[in-house]
Amino acid sequence: MNDNLVAYYSERAKEYEKIYDKPERQSDLLALNDILQNTFPGKDVFEIACGTGYWTQRIARVANTVLATDINTSVIDIAKGKVYEKNNVTFDVLDIFKPFLRQPFDSLFGGFIWSHIKLQELDKFIDTVHSFVKPGGQVFFIDNNFVEDSSRPIISTDEFSNTYQQRELENGDSYSIIKNFPTDELFFKLLKEKGERIKFVNLKYYWAVSYYRK
Ligand SMILES: C[S@@+](CC[C@H](N)C(=O)[O-])C[C@H]1O[C@@H](n2cnc3c(N)ncnc32)[C@H](O)[C@@H]1O
Repeated sequence: MNDNLVAYYSERAKEYEKIYDKPERQSDLLALNDILQNTFPGKDVFEIACGTGYWTQRIARVANTVLATDINTSVIDIAKGKVYEKNNVTFDVLDIFKPFLRQPFDSLFGGFIWSHIKLQELDKFIDTVHSFVKPGGQVFFIDNNFVEDSSRPIISTDEFSNTYQQRELENGDSYSIIKNFPTDELFFKLLKEKGERIKFVNLKYYWAVSYYRK
């Protein structure tokens, strides 16, 4: 079994968006979409780990501009093939753990990346994310809750309490993928010194956290 997260998402690119077809999750997805539509009107948004552009397309409907980035070109190529009505989206390849060479942005969005960050690296992750955003800029993450009968089971837990799922691709390749399910307490603890006006929304299948970096 392979535990390479980046390779997994590169290989999964073409089948990735099937995850958004699960019938039981549709009303939560609409709720998330509404929250995003109300968060980003007129903003210049820097998106990390954009994947195939599912949320990029939705944010771009209301944002001024979106710079959508991901480490994998295979997913960016799919995102680039989508229609962006306002023609306001640009793309770049970016590893969120590498130094950032651009001017910081007013707002940042990260969908379904938080759960893939090792718990022992979350502090470093937040600091890196904050280097992409101006002081006072808005940071917004969404990700999964664990829901029995809908989520894939947890197959193991490591010494840092990171949890892992087994993921199979249509070609039969199998990966052990880190997937953590944080509590709202964890956000308030991690962001206490680094963020303000922290708002946590807990749906059934998803959570969303919004705050302003200090
Ligand atoms: C679960 S997918 C989320 C995709 C998209 N944001 C969405 O919500 O549909 C996670 C994404 O993180 C990207 N990724 C993984 N490690 C990364 C890194 N170090 N830097 C940037 N992107 C990364 C993967 O290529 C993948 O597209």
